[in-house]
Amino acid sequence: MKVLCVCLGNICRSPTAEAVLREFGGGQIEVDSAGTGGWHVGKPPYGPAIQAGEARGYELAHLRARQFDVADFARFDLILVMDRQNQADVEALRPVGNETPVRLFLSYAADLGRNDVPDPYYTGDFDEALDLIEAGARALLRAI
Ligand code: 4NP
Repeated sequence: MKVLCVCLGNICRSPTAEAVLREFGGGQIEVDSAGTGGWHVGKPPYGPAIQAGEARGYELAHLRARQFDVADFARFDLILVMDRQNQADVEALRPVGNETPVRLFLSYAADLGRNDVPDPYYTGDFDEALDLIEAGARALLRAI
């Protein structure tokens, strides 16, 4: 199964989700990530996101940002968005007739009672983002 994680910048939440899913998935799923915005294309994840991830054993430093592309609807089986704005931005690009599911990353972990992963680029809380992403990833892997 091919899964694409999407956030706004592709330098904090979605590369973290990519690394966590890759680690938890144990080779069962193919994972990539992208941003709806293009400001950071070609850049590694944000330093504090790399450090927070590495502190929990996830490798992020080698990842490079790219922008979500309309062709991603056909390339992936499942698109996982970090918040409802990402969902609206991705859905706005959906080609006519395409039915690839676009789901909130936290939607599998209903017990969290959360829709969005708050953006740590703005909140500064990289541990909160990691806690939510780990819980969402565990629930996701049980569901698929
Ligand atoms: P992300 O965080 O969507 O979790 O990668 C962001 C990082 C940078 C920007 C926006 C969001 N930015 O506008 O520069």
